[in-house]
Amino acid sequence: MSLRHLHLLGSPVLRQRSAEVGTVDDEVRRLVDDMFETMDAAKGVGLAANQVGVARRVAVVDAEGERFAMIDPVIVESEGRSVAEEGCLSIPDIYGDVTRPERVVIEAMDREGNRYRMDAAGLKARAIQHEIDHLDGILFLDHLSPIRRQMLVSKWRREHKDDTGYTKEVQTASAPPD
Ligand code: NI
Repeated sequence: MSLRHLHLLGSPVLRQRSAEVGTVDDEVRRLVDDMFETMDAAKGVGLAANQVGVARRVAVVDAEGERFAMIDPVIVESEGRSVAEEGCLSIPDIYGDVTRPERVVIEAMDREGNRYRMDAAGLKARAIQHEIDHLDGILFLDHLSPIRRQMLVSKWRREHKDDTGYTKEVQTASAPPD
């Protein structure tokens, strides 16, 4: 396994609709493993493949004690409404309140290529929707009011005016104390 570089706001791949995987092979499994490792090192609750520069429909989630990969995920049901603050590993230090359905049912494939159906609510449902948005080139900023979004993007640009590229190296997570 290896850590992958994170793509940050401004990187074109974050705005691309990622392509279906179809068949899960060794390359996809390696991508999933690397994404789990990168998400853990970056202390995220989810990560989509285009955030590591790969425009394929693969995402990983670690929320409410559950870790899973979603390959070619589709939301088949959604209901309710909830508002909560979100952030994104591709837009560090920027947060905003996002309104989303409270509960979703998804269908996807796991790391082995087996199809599954999952019913999720709360933080898990939010993380799933945030990651599936990524696969469609959508960022949480897009769910905010135009004024709020403009404010946050300006803040981001001020803080990143000296950046020379759109990627960031992720440092290996230090071992938790025992
Ligand atoms: Ni994100």
